[in-house]
Amino acid sequence: MISQFFSAIINAFPQSSSTLHRIVRSSKFWGIGQLFSELGLASSVPIDPVLILSGHQRCILDIDVQSATSMRGNRNRVTSSKELKKNESAPLTKELRRPNNSAAPLAKDLSFRQSAAGDRTIDNCVLHRQRFTGCYRVAFRRSVLIRKSVRSSATSSKASISAPPEAKPADKMGDGIGSVKQQISRLFETSLKTTFPDEANTEPMVAISTQKFADYQCNNAMSLFSKIKGKSTDYRNPNSVGQAIARNLPPSDIIESTSVAGPGFVNVVLSSTWVAQYIQSMLLNGIETWAPLLSVKRAVVDFSSPNIAKEMHVGHLRSTIIGDTLARMLEFSKVDVLRRNHVGDWGTQFGMLIEYLFEMFPNWEDVGEQAIGDLQEFYKASKKRFDDDPSFKERAQLAVVQLQGGDMKYRNAWKKICEISRKEFDLVYKRLGVYLEEKGESFYNPYIPGVLEELTQKGLVEESEGARVIFIEGQSIPLIVVKKDGGFNYASTDLAALWYRLNEEKAEWIIYVTDAGQQLHFSMLFSAARKAGWLPENSNLYPKANHVGFGLVLGSDGKRFRTRSSEVVRLAELLDEAKDRSKAELRTRLEDSGKVAEWTDEELEETAEAVGYGAVKYADLKNNRSTNYTFSFEQMLNDKGNTAVYLLYAHARICSIIRKSGKDIKELMKNGTVVLAHPDERILGLHLIHFAEMVEEACINLLPNVICEYLYNLSEIFTRFYTNCKVVGSAEETSRLLLCEATAVVMRKCFHLLGIKPVYKI
Ligand code: ARG
Repeated sequence: MISQFFSAIINAFPQSSSTLHRIVRSSKFWGIGQLFSELGLASSVPIDPVLILSGHQRCILDIDVQSATSMRGNRNRVTSSKELKKNESAPLTKELRRPNNSAAPLAKDLSFRQSAAGDRTIDNCVLHRQRFTGCYRVAFRRSVLIRKSVRSSATSSKASISAPPEAKPADKMGDGIGSVKQQISRLFETSLKTTFPDEANTEPMVAISTQKFADYQCNNAMSLFSKIKGKSTDYRNPNSVGQAIARNLPPSDIIESTSVAGPGFVNVVLSSTWVAQYIQSMLLNGIETWAPLLSVKRAVVDFSSPNIAKEMHVGHLRSTIIGDTLARMLEFSKVDVLRRNHVGDWGTQFGMLIEYLFEMFPNWEDVGEQAIGDLQEFYKASKKRFDDDPSFKERAQLAVVQLQGGDMKYRNAWKKICEISRKEFDLVYKRLGVYLEEKGESFYNPYIPGVLEELTQKGLVEESEGARVIFIEGQSIPLIVVKKDGGFNYASTDLAALWYRLNEEKAEWIIYVTDAGQQLHFSMLFSAARKAGWLPENSNLYPKANHVGFGLVLGSDGKRFRTRSSEVVRLAELLDEAKDRSKAELRTRLEDSGKVAEWTDEELEETAEAVGYGAVKYADLKNNRSTNYTFSFEQMLNDKGNTAVYLLYAHARICSIIRKSGKDIKELMKNGTVVLAHPDERILGLHLIHFAEMVEEACINLLPNVICEYLYNLSEIFTRFYTNCKVVGSAEETSRLLLCEATAVVMRKCFHLLGIKPVYKI
């Protein structure tokens, strides 16, 4: 009952306090006595819980359980006068007059229930003291209240309460106030509330304008008109609704002018002065002030995750590149990211490997690494042995049992093999500049029995053909959680890992990055978790799990990508080749321009590496991840078109413009002024300030290609600006140099999010 109550609130979010209240009230389980008997308190307590959108920083919603009488002294916390009347005569109970005492049983009981019912929606329940009243403040986890508004950038009611709609002074601008779109949304939210107080829960629908003459637009008029038609005589048509919305916008430095078009679209032209100040303020205070506001505090990104002793193939390379970028995007947006390498370090292949090791090198402990040498070759050889010799196969199978039973000799051999493998993986991660924390499959072993026990008790696990399985609606094949032979598998490990991440690591968003081929596995895993009540039914709510699937990497023949030297692609070789090719091209370039003498070997090496690895990453990330893409060194190392090479060089060129001006850019930031007078200056400025919205979109939809697209457009827009606006030696030099610098800063942040090292010199 309690969790139904909470989910009703969460489902109703984001709404105004009164709407929330109405929704929760109308649900069948709501009632003063009922809630309190649920909480184990005396049902005679004559109080009425009141839901209030929190103005408190750390939570979005409070449920204040207050005395109606005491609320009279604090009118703004009362949601409706009717309610007040209803409870007016209610005497105060002793507990409520002494909130210190009364808080304890409720808070205690709630937190008890929270853990008992696994109710992870509540963050805490504390006593909250006010001048007139003591009340219990129940803070929901911010993250469970996913706001539809996050997607549309229209902000929740909370935002309008906590942040003033007026633009902040230039020196504070951009500090934790979200994207420009969010700021404009807040202005419209205020206007909508003033204009249509009866439609209090209308979310502002603000978007970047597609029109030439406007920058943003608000699209609420049409739907509002259809709602109020007949009720209000003030409005003849959607256009008059739009007019009213525009009229009631609070004064703000952000907006230069508005106009209303057709069926009430409110077009907004931003003030060029404000945009210019906004850019200058970013230059002074850092691009971090342009980080979007997300509603998640902690996320797990499960990526890379190769299998020990097996090949780390291009699929794992894609996972590594995409996962790292997702982690960087979320980290930039101030999410605490747990970067998890879910390596396949447990499974039947180890029986084979260990047995082969013992057979080939009885003294393996002394020879160690040299015995195994190349782990992939070793794997192949042992596999051959396994396939060819039935008695070896039998021993290998027994070895698995020994290993899982914890036999030290087998455990040590397993550890050694994992260690060798780890060293190889780390070489690749180091070159790619990717940080990961390994928590392999074996880590979750101890948790599997308990988790399966819970699922069995919840009635999810059934016997089927000797195995233990979970049936999922709409799927003909169940999720096998215990194999016929009693062993655990990939799915049992993933269930335990999901449980661990939710309950132990308290992650609110769990993101799995693997090839699209594993889509079914994850969809079944998430369904099972929903059935178990670990994840909410509504997949838009937090805690949330997402599978980030990606397509194949193809060779120029249209088949799965392979390199010349081996059947599989060795990642180290691939990275070598990318670097060698970019180095050769860079050298030719420098020789042709006669600049080779200006470069040290070290610089050449570093640049070749940044460009080479950057090219591999960018070629992967620029595609929508769900499509296949063709791997081509020629294409990715081309210095024209949408490639990392082109973009890195574009950035270096901007740096060289600034360098060659001979001006101290830090000095200009402080004492110069950005002015957006020329149309191409304004277009560049607007594109720059879209940065936060763009990152937000990329995070919400888990799409790195959104960043690539933005970055490419930025460099094109910059080129147009640079072609049409003389920078060095012009009257507008200071402002234009600052625009160059802002472009370089934003480009660098994009590179950073994509895991690409910027280049400053070409
Ligand atoms: N090791 C797996 C593979 O190579 C990927 C693991 C993905 N993560 C997970 N939690 N299942 O396909």
